[in-house]
Amino acid sequence: MDSSGGQRSQPILMKLDRYHGWMQDLDLLRLTASEPLSLTEEYKLQQAWCDDEDKLDDPSLAEIEVMIAEAGNRGRGFGKEATAIMMHFGMRTLGIKTFQAKIGVGNHPSLYMFRNFAFEEVARSEVFQEVILQRTVTSEWQSWLQTTLGSITEESYTESQARRTARVML
Ligand SMILES: CC(C)(COP(=O)(O)OP(=O)(O)OC[C@H]1O[C@@H](n2cnc3c(N)ncnc32)[C@H](O)[C@@H]1OP(=O)(O)O)[C@@H](O)C(=O)NCCC(=O)NCCS
Repeated sequence: MDSSGGQRSQPILMKLDRYHGWMQDLDLLRLTASEPLSLTEEYKLQQAWCDDEDKLDDPSLAEIEVMIAEAGNRGRGFGKEATAIMMHFGMRTLGIKTFQAKIGVGNHPSLYMFRNFAFEEVARSEVFQEVILQRTVTSEWQSWLQTTLGSITEESYTESQARRTARVML
């Protein structure tokens, strides 16, 4: 996803302080089925993930996770838009053929959102109180998603940062 060679993990690691602040919220921990971690543990976890050679055991299957961290920004269409954009990128650029979402049984907003994206339940764990919703990419579904999204333009992280800086300076 990042073409900067040896610096691949940097964008993820730089954002962790803010992410860690969000993950102090008990409600968010529950909704995302996350454990409370110290900032040092967050860094170690992200680094381990970046270094993990086995994470792509099936490169055509992607687990999709989305979080609108600040409660005041939920219900405004951002989650839907971010999810559609990630799936669009996953299909077109990474060749993803199947998306999966693991969602807590009581997380109704998330369940509604993924069902609205035509995901279907494929498994349910009583132990983890979690359902797995899945969507296989078909040409019909891809066209429908494209219509939902409208026109979007892909650009690199570096390009978008440069554009933002230029806008601030104007
Ligand atoms: C789930 C989440 C990502 C949805 O993002 P959002 O920006 O709040 O949702 P949107 O405004 O984009 O709405 C998208 C869809 O979600 C559903 N939805 C959103 N809020 C809802 C609510 N309070 N109750 C029921 N459905 C809701 C609807 O289906 C909606 O589609 P519609 O407006 O076309 O009917 C967001 O609520 C969130 O981050 N929650 C906390 C973290 C989390 O649960 N992540 C998912 C873990 S798998």
